[in-house]
Amino acid sequence: MQQTDEKATIIIGDQQIELPVLIGTEGHKSIDISRLFEEYGITTFDPSLGSTSMCQSTITYIDGDKGILRYRGIPIEQFDRPKPNFIEVAWLLIFGYLPTRQELNEFRDLLTANEMLHEELRDQFNNVPPKSPPMAILSAMLSQLACYYEKFLPLGDDDLFIEAAGRLISKARTIAAYSYRRSKGLPYIYPDPALRYCANFLHMMFSIPYQQYIIGEEIEDAMNLVLILHADHEQNCSTSAVRVVGSAKANLFASCAAGVSALWGPLHGGANVEVMKMLEAINSGGMDPKDCINAAKDKDNPYKLYGFGHRVYKNYDPRAKILRAAADRVFARQKINDPLLDIARQLEEYALNDSYFIDRKLYPNVDFYSGILLRAIGIPTNMFTVIFAMGRLPGWIAQWKEQHDNTTQKIIRPRQLYVGKKLNDYVPIGER
Ligand code: CMC
Repeated sequence: MQQTDEKATIIIGDQQIELPVLIGTEGHKSIDISRLFEEYGITTFDPSLGSTSMCQSTITYIDGDKGILRYRGIPIEQFDRPKPNFIEVAWLLIFGYLPTRQELNEFRDLLTANEMLHEELRDQFNNVPPKSPPMAILSAMLSQLACYYEKFLPLGDDDLFIEAAGRLISKARTIAAYSYRRSKGLPYIYPDPALRYCANFLHMMFSIPYQQYIIGEEIEDAMNLVLILHADHEQNCSTSAVRVVGSAKANLFASCAAGVSALWGPLHGGANVEVMKMLEAINSGGMDPKDCINAAKDKDNPYKLYGFGHRVYKNYDPRAKILRAAADRVFARQKINDPLLDIARQLEEYALNDSYFIDRKLYPNVDFYSGILLRAIGIPTNMFTVIFAMGRLPGWIAQWKEQHDNTTQKIIRPRQLYVGKKLNDYVPIGER
């Protein structure tokens, strides 16, 4: 980020305020208002932060108008084929460069060494009601990691950071799989150190004590692709939550648990579940695709076309494009014929030809096709958002680290525009 020679001028009454203008690597300009309150007692008003750059970042670049997404400068399309491993992408995001073979092997070994859960933590799964939402379990268990690994709670040590990050990425996968096993009342399956990250997750999800789940290469690749495509997305809702919590110098586990909670919401990561409900309702004859489109357009109806629209993308989400093609590939090779894929394509066609969606630049987002691909992998709907969280974890960790390494970063503490009562008096209860 550089300061330009330009200045932005704000005129309020007879007061004229000149503010510095910053410019990012890709030419985007940002007015620096960080000293506005301190020097002039004025705040800016941007309730959902749609026009606010909360931080400077080197991790992920999005151009929403052109539909561009890059991790550390690398276009997302380059992660489709040839396929890197999710762990390689995690390293790229967290440390800022592609790992050497040795670094990658050491990172893998770190993950393998930490794939199991403390037996007491594993027992905790039995203390939540059966059929608990897996996202609730994930958030709680990530937070609880802090109870078992207190040595990672002080924040100053760089060597400990990599260990904490590796542990978190590895254990999140085990926790995710166990949250599913709990929701099904199935026995927990120990991780298998011989398996890669995604294969090991699928093994813990689907093996049974007397029968190892056979993981097809295609399915493992699809899972790997889904995780990579979700790995970071700059300052989205959950990442901002991680940054806000981390700015109070909260530890990595607590900060990422906050990210899981934010991601759960249906406007964010929870949208992939809503998409599936919508497609299933159409498939079962409960709704017609045109009814969905009309309900989503009706301003008196809270119904939304889930998987459509985005705060940043005003074009086709590049992740949705890749997922759609991947779903086509997997379905063709596995000779699967899922009617939900045809329904999704039909809905997309209707929406993209409807002036409501055209005028508002509403296109399919990552959640529109991810569920269909996850279904082909055999992942149940209540795990879709959990998979999103597993994928997003390296992004949260990278963003937490970037913020932590910035020694000028203060606690995030926005202002408000108070519109409540003026000075008021307390009235004792008997006099009200
Ligand atoms: N269906 C119908 N109308 C929509 C939709 C939709 N999915 N998305 C936006 N609109 C309308 C919205 O009603 C508004 O209309 P108007 O200008 O007439 O008031 C206009 O489009 C602009 O939308 P907005 O709500 O101001 O946009 P936003 O940036 O605040 O919200 C969003 C972005 C993603 C929350 C929203 O598009 C949405 O609710 N989409 C459905 C949920 C979804 O798919 N979420 C996943 C997002 S991508 C992955 C992730 O972040 O997790």
